[in-house]
Amino acid sequence: MSENYVLKMENIEKSFNGVPVLKKADFFLAKGEIHALCGGNGAGKSTLMKILTGVYTKDDGTITIDNDSVQINSTQDAEKNGIAMIFQEFSLIPTLTVAQNIFLAREPRTGKTFINDKECIRAAEDILKKLNVDIDPNVTVDSLGVGYWQMVEIAKALSKNAKILIMDEPTSSLSESETVSLFKLVKQLKDSGISIVYISHRMAEIFEICDKVTVLKDGRTILTEECKNLTMDKVVESMMGVEAGKSFEWIERTFDRPDRPILEVKNLSYGHRVKDVSFELYPGEIVGMAGLMGSGRTEIAQCLFGMNHPDSGEVLIEGNRVKRTKDAIRNGIALVPEDRRKQGLVLDHTVRDNMMLPMIKQLTKGLFVDDSRGNSLTAEFIAKLNIKTDGVSKLVKLLSGGNQQKIVLAKWLAQHPKVLILDEPTIGVDIGAKSEIVEIIRSMANEGMAILVISSELEELLAVSDRILVLYNGTIFKEIYRKNIESEEELHHAIQGY
Ligand SMILES: Nc1ncnc2c1ncn2[C@@H]1O[C@H](COP(=O)(O)OP(=O)(O)OP(=O)(O)O)[C@@H](O)[C@H]1O
Ligand SMILES: [Mg+2]
Repeated sequence: MSENYVLKMENIEKSFNGVPVLKKADFFLAKGEIHALCGGNGAGKSTLMKILTGVYTKDDGTITIDNDSVQINSTQDAEKNGIAMIFQEFSLIPTLTVAQNIFLAREPRTGKTFINDKECIRAAEDILKKLNVDIDPNVTVDSLGVGYWQMVEIAKALSKNAKILIMDEPTSSLSESETVSLFKLVKQLKDSGISIVYISHRMAEIFEICDKVTVLKDGRTILTEECKNLTMDKVVESMMGVEAGKSFEWIERTFDRPDRPILEVKNLSYGHRVKDVSFELYPGEIVGMAGLMGSGRTEIAQCLFGMNHPDSGEVLIEGNRVKRTKDAIRNGIALVPEDRRKQGLVLDHTVRDNMMLPMIKQLTKGLFVDDSRGNSLTAEFIAKLNIKTDGVSKLVKLLSGGNQQKIVLAKWLAQHPKVLILDEPTIGVDIGAKSEIVEIIRSMANEGMAILVISSELEELLAVSDRILVLYNGTIFKEIYRKNIESEEELHHAIQGY
């Protein structure tokens, strides 16, 4: 082959406790390309890249870097070979400065004992300048927005002279403008000869910035092709093994609005993020909440759930005031948080225990928990959401990222709350499951549940909502009925404020 490969991973095999996860997977990366790694939740993407970065060791197969066969048994080995990975859970220390984070544990030193602060700052300045990133290396990381964290992570990787950079779902917590800056930076890295592995579930993004796509399915490589020879449908089809195309179709629902709302939000204000917000939600209705990141959507959701205590205004469910989370749960409000790994899961508990946690009362008879009912309910949701796990007793921390997301969703869906608030319900979820989730939301609403969906994916909002509230700077700026929206473009303009 004439191509100049910086990396070849061939016949990679990996099992966990006897369960094969990678089955002779191949991955070839050319110098200076942006290469998307795609596949359904649990396909083995993160595992393959964790093998490359020395987090896991492979059972079999070969890794070649610049035509030399290499052994990677530790993260240090990976670093020596010029490999760096930006994990979804960032590795920065918020209370340290940008410069300190970039050179963490390997600060430039004068003599043997003293860390040379000045040198450290100067070197950080150099790198940031090279990246065209406007960040002061003297500020602490926690004073920066998430978008900048990503940039600091990249600076950190480059300071180690990385020639292969792996990004695992880098845009899932970024706003639109942050994504634009990130893409600019990624293209610049490519032009300087760095090769990038780009893991994402967002097809549009992949086709915007990647040169090539490799698809993993059940631990096998089933497709590697240049983007220009592919269509999104073709990629989705190979990932999911079904004919793709209608995943986000909007179906107008006939919904008779009852006389009385179930949820009333009256003149809610919270800090500078939420300003005098009022709206109502009716049983059986799906309301979407659109807006840029920082427009106050998550803060409103947290006020509804009693997690934030508003400065003024009130939240009523069937006329009862919600002040604390306890009131919210008692009155039938459920919140699926955006940051699910942190807020929604007990990572060291099993799949079953996580799903059944909020239902423990219903499942308890006398002193005993009805295990068989718990198991069958869990199994039902595993099937419904196509959750990939070896069983209900697997620890949640051992599931893939997307499958963890699905568990939190299942946990609250199984409760049948009266009001369900979903903050970015399909983040990190593969495209097959996205349409399943939209289906489930619709059927829950048909049974009378009132649902509030916050989402940055316009396609998703348009597919699921009866009505859309557009937030801007903490206030409701527009209310639009779905049936009156002609195109994604129109909603996009509404969100941008023009
Ligand atoms: N340490 C581990 N122990 C046991 N099983 C594991 C471990 N790490 C990963 N797995 C399993 O390996 C499979 C592949 O997981 P991986 O995280 O690579 O998937 P992924 O393609 O990155 O999916 P996602 O899109 O959801 O992030 C999953 O079924 C997961 O449960
Ligand atoms: Mg993953």
